[in-house]
Amino acid sequence: MSMNFVLVGCGRIATLHVAGYKDYQDAKLYGVYDKNINCAKKFAAEHGIPKVYESYEQVLADDKVTGVEILTPHHLHCQMTIQACNAKKHVSVQKPMALNLVECDQMIEAAKKNGVKLKVYENFVFYPPYQIAKKLLDNGEIGEPQAMRYKMNNAALCSLNAPATKMRAKSAGVKLDEDLPSTGWKVNPLSWAWRLNESLSGGGPVVFDDGYHKFSIIMHMLGDVEKVCAWIDYTPVMPGVYQDSPATIMWKHKDSKIYGVFDVSCSKDMYIQSKYYTCDERMEITGSRGIIWVTRCTATLLPDVAPVVMYRDGKLTEFWDMPCDWQDSFINCTRDFIDSIKHDREPMLSGERGREVLKFALAAIDSSKQNKEIYLDSYEDKELMKKKGIISIFFKKKK
Ligand SMILES: NC(=O)c1ccc[n+]([C@@H]2O[C@H](COP(=O)([O-])OP(=O)(O)OC[C@H]3O[C@@H](n4cnc5c(N)ncnc54)[C@H](O)[C@@H]3O)[C@@H](O)[C@H]2O)c1
Repeated sequence: MSMNFVLVGCGRIATLHVAGYKDYQDAKLYGVYDKNINCAKKFAAEHGIPKVYESYEQVLADDKVTGVEILTPHHLHCQMTIQACNAKKHVSVQKPMALNLVECDQMIEAAKKNGVKLKVYENFVFYPPYQIAKKLLDNGEIGEPQAMRYKMNNAALCSLNAPATKMRAKSAGVKLDEDLPSTGWKVNPLSWAWRLNESLSGGGPVVFDDGYHKFSIIMHMLGDVEKVCAWIDYTPVMPGVYQDSPATIMWKHKDSKIYGVFDVSCSKDMYIQSKYYTCDERMEITGSRGIIWVTRCTATLLPDVAPVVMYRDGKLTEFWDMPCDWQDSFINCTRDFIDSIKHDREPMLSGERGREVLKFALAAIDSSKQNKEIYLDSYEDKELMKKKGIISIFFKKKK
């Protein structure tokens, strides 16, 4: 019997949620819903999706719908997930799972009570180069894991989603058309607006929002985390508006001497080639016998370097033979949701695992605020968010 799925929220990321359903066993992208009905209609027409719903209640009342993918701003994740579970729909909810751990518990409870799957949609763990690196690691190719370094570069020069590209290029001494083509995809300013309001997003766009991917892949590669210590600074992205970077986050894995560092730099005059966000990630894992590098993910800063490289016994081995477009991670992630329902197994990240990842993120942020290291086992939660004014903390005074 065919399973029918509905995308809820037809914004920027929804475009990457379509391909996973194409020609995939017994699953169909059946409908869409967005509170902006014109946006939903346009999206459905562009992607050949048969049905456009007029309300979320209508989606949930439709017996033909097997599951929903929630692709809305973060403050809606908890409430929409609980509603869907109560309507006996399976749920995939985009990262970060929720605003805080209390919400995670409510979502997990709702899924359990109703006997439906709850998947936190975090695609990095499905990115083929990371999958290859994980296999090498688990097969002991570099010996016992010792440490991880994870680097993220945000850039803006010639990026279609960063304003004032021309002025920036001029001040950096770059001739735009001759030297560098535009890079990155277009992002509707509305897609940034809610992210800069902490009561809607739950935290900063870099460490809390995008960072969820990084906290997830760190735990996926090397296991649970014992403690974390972080410095998270603020940088203006436009006059008076700040984002949560640069940042340096350090952690120790449980029951081991494995340490890691994740750091973020934002370079407004740096050019990064990308079909998506102009944000590049590089991972390095050191083992007792060798080193594994994963040299890309969202963007392609180093197109001539193999996606995965391993050093061992004086030799470098390059791994080229894999799909490595960022979109591939979305295809695999969507299929994990479908398969978890079809084979009645836990999805990868389950609600419980998604909660652990969120805890890592929240503890890192609190560590920076409180200037101290935080042990995850004894960390519970910050209080439920109180409504703050628009753009709240991002209007901080420059130090
Ligand atoms: N996996 C990734 O790499 C990745 C990348 C970007 C965004 N995301 C996540 O995806 C989610 C959506 O992000 P986005 O960038 O697409 O945001 P967006 O702002 O571009 O899109 C959100 C959409 O939700 C709609 N919406 C808002 N309230 C709604 C409601 N009550 N009912 C129905 N629709 C509603 C908006 O009209 C909009 O079209 C977030 O959780 C975000 O963190 C994940």
